[in-house]
This record gives sequence, structure tokens and C-alpha cells, in this order.
Amino acid sequence: MRIKIVNVGEPVLRTAARPLHPEEIGSSRTRELIEHMRETLADAPGVGLAAPQIGEPLQLAIVEDRVEYQANLTEAELAERERRPVPFHVLINPEIQLLSSPDTSFFEGCLSLPGFVGMVPRARKVRVKALNENGEPIRIEAVGWYARILQHEIDHLKGTLYIDRMWSRSFCSVDNYNRLWKSKPTSELLQAFHPRTDGTGRDANLSGKSPEERNDETATDRHRSTS
Ligand code: NI
Repeated sequence: MRIKIVNVGEPVLRTAARPLHPEEIGSSRTRELIEHMRETLADAPGVGLAAPQIGEPLQLAIVEDRVEYQANLTEAELAERERRPVPFHVLINPEIQLLSSPDTSFFEGCLSLPGFVGMVPRARKVRVKALNENGEPIRIEAVGWYARILQHEIDHLKGTLYIDRMWSRSFCSVDNYNRLWKSKPTSELLQAFHPRTDGTGRDANLSGKSPEERNDETATDRHRSTS
């Protein structure tokens, strides 16, 4: 069953999701929820979906980057993004550790903000510790686009959207992205949108936090993932 994806403005997208209890994982309700999310994601289509996006404030997300989703990118674009197919999998109660600084920027979108994209700086490499749909622990080390997807989905579980992290002046409609920016080399996009070069003089990452605070965040995530 396809479930309605909620759009930005719904409070559930801005709420920290709660962890699933051990007895909930593997329950028929959770299994059904995962199946509905899988159908919803394939129908959208998209490469990741977090439970808050279907109105469930739970620390549950799914990821699947099918080879056919990559057909509109050239070999060079796929290589630059380090984008490779990712089989379907489930993340429950995930903890993420950034293994590099968030300085790899590409346009990304979100099913909860249909019709728009923005340039988002992300870490190239991450480590994720989570449980799968059977409650078994899993560890993932991901690079490139897969690392980006994981950061995006796990952000959803904390009530964070890509617009909180994007270079705000890069925000544009998908139509205009396809018409004006899609075929531009990354160097030109950086020139146009990087906060240090766009004439505003503002620092990268417009979260309103200082680099020190952001480092603290990374350190906190690192600590959590090892405790
Ligand atoms: Ni999203």
C-alpha cells in the first residue's frame, strides 16, 4: 500500500523521532510499515525514505538506489558523485559518524519538498551503526552518494531537512535546475553558489552554527556511535 508522503510544514518532519523498542522490531506492525514504506519509495520514486515522512515519528528509514535511477546521469557524473547502486535495506535506531568533514557538495532533493533541489555539503564518508528489520546489528561504511543518502535519511530522524544544511542561494525548482544548472560542471556551481564566493561573504553551511559547534556535533555523533 502506498502511503501519503507528508510535506515540509508538517510538525512530524521537525520532531526528533523515537527509537523502536526491541519488542517492536520484527512485530507485524513494523513489518507492515516497512513494506508500505518500500512500496511508497518505489512509487515516488526515490532513493531513501524515513518514517517521519509518512507521519510516523520512529527511528526507521529505508534506502534503495536502483541502477535505473542512475540512467539519466553520465558515466562522468556518476563517477564524480561516487554513485553506485545500493540494494534495498532497512535502518532502525541508526547512529551516524562522519568520517570526513562535510565539504562535498551536490544538488539533492527530498520527497517531502517536491519540486525543489539545493546544493548540500555532506561528508564524503560515514559509518553507520543500526539494527536491521530482524533486530540484528549492522555496520555500514559508505562513501559518495550512498554516504549522502544515509546522512539525509538519518537527518530526517532528528527533525533536520536538507534545507537546513544547503547553500540557501542554490535553492531552485527542479524545472530550473534541469534547464539551467544540471549540465554545469561542479566548478561552475561552486562559483555560483558557494557561500564564500556568492558575494554574501557568509560561511559555508548556513545552519547558523559556528564551525566549532559543528565539530562538536560530529564529536557527539562519534561518541554516541561507540558507546
Ligand atoms: Ni528527504
